[in-house]
Amino acid sequence: MTKSLDESLSYFKDKINDCIKLRKSISVTTHIDCDGLTSGSIITKALIRAGAKCTLRTSKEFSQNVIDSLKKDSRDFHIVTDLGGGFAPDLDKSLQEDWIVLDHHQISEDEHDVPRVINAWKYGLDGGTEICAGGMAFLAAMALNEKNSDLSALAVVAALGDRQDQGERKSFTGKNFEIAKIAKECGLLEIDLDLLLVGRETRPLPDALAFTSQPFIDGLTWNRDACLSLLNSSGIPLKDGGRWRVPAELNEEEKRIVIEKITKFTTGKNATDIMSELIGYTYTFPREDSRSFLRDGREFSTMLNSCGRISKSGVGMAICMGDRNRILKEGETILSEYRKLIREYMNVLTNERWRISESDTCVMVNGEGIVPETMTGTISSLIAGSPKNSGKIIILRTKGEENTIKFSSRKSFGCKSPINLSNLMKKGAEKYNGIGGGHDAAAGAKITKDKLNDFLDYLDVNVVNLSSSN
Ligand code: C5P
Repeated sequence: MTKSLDESLSYFKDKINDCIKLRKSISVTTHIDCDGLTSGSIITKALIRAGAKCTLRTSKEFSQNVIDSLKKDSRDFHIVTDLGGGFAPDLDKSLQEDWIVLDHHQISEDEHDVPRVINAWKYGLDGGTEICAGGMAFLAAMALNEKNSDLSALAVVAALGDRQDQGERKSFTGKNFEIAKIAKECGLLEIDLDLLLVGRETRPLPDALAFTSQPFIDGLTWNRDACLSLLNSSGIPLKDGGRWRVPAELNEEEKRIVIEKITKFTTGKNATDIMSELIGYTYTFPREDSRSFLRDGREFSTMLNSCGRISKSGVGMAICMGDRNRILKEGETILSEYRKLIREYMNVLTNERWRISESDTCVMVNGEGIVPETMTGTISSLIAGSPKNSGKIIILRTKGEENTIKFSSRKSFGCKSPINLSNLMKKGAEKYNGIGGGHDAAAGAKITKDKLNDFLDYLDVNVVNLSSSN
């Protein structure tokens, strides 16, 4: 029978306390993205504080190979965060009862009955919007000890990284809202309604405006010269002494002027949507240094996503675990390298039109030879953010390791399709011996290359050629 969330959390607590008492070692395996790095770090920090012997490692995805390596591992007990959905029978077979999955990806009903699966959906929580793996790990950490309430700040970063700020004006809902409240009460978080430009704490104003791609503003996004001339014409001082000012330093009147100037670029049917997307809640960590990329929650989350995606998960984990010295420089370098790569990939995809095919419902993008496997999610999200794709489903594919093809799908802004992308990817992948899953509006799949044409035919029938009313 499905347990309640409280029962599951106390099951978690009992299992961990047993490990500690019996001096059993614990491995934590987590995903490489922001939600993965934060959830893995939250649980590892809580375990270390409780006196457990534990190690943390990352994995790009979950598979029988990962389970085999856990089985071979010398650790006694295994915690998997932000991964592992659909693998309960395999985990049981290999590890008996010595494992727990903390996750938020959609799972089938069969897994609801497994006590070792602590997944948001099982408790009626929407794992796409109300809580992510970071939030689930935070609840587990609180079950171990309420003194872990300070880890709420990392859970906020997790929710931002997974774009769960989907309430009105990018607010949080459900458990995320409660977790953000705890972080606020601990004095770790400030929430304000403000202008949403990327790199709020770190980027020179013209760069921040140019690199804000959600919303995508034609004429401004990715056009630094146009942004600089807009700001120059506004009369706002752009420098403080010799140094560029950053968005977080604008006062109310300056923000009003900037918004007015931007409005001139947003004529047309999407103007209201664009303006309403530009103003929203910001999440600031006041204890981080000002002008540090860790002070703004969204920038923190982008940095963590970029760490995983350019194979530098260790730097992200170190920062989540509390390292703040030399490692910050590395984080900064990773962030700028990542942004440079994104610009390069987007340029190629925009210029090589043969890579893109469109129907009424869907935009299919071939990123083979350009987009690395680890960055498909970032790029598909960006393509989904472009206003010319609004209302459509985006499906990006690229080459993966060992003769595989990786797919990443997204519902764009305003997409009303009833297709559940998680089901679409999971069913399609399973049909062709691959793996797939995720959420209603963001999901992925991986198949072997020889099944590519079959999988594309499957997508043709189930998405591309469906009429937009379906
Ligand atoms: O890879 P991408 O960013 O497109 O994945 C979107 C979502 O789907 C993520 O939350 C990812 O963890 C999930 N996913 C999954 N199983 C897969 C591929 C992706 O659960 N095989």
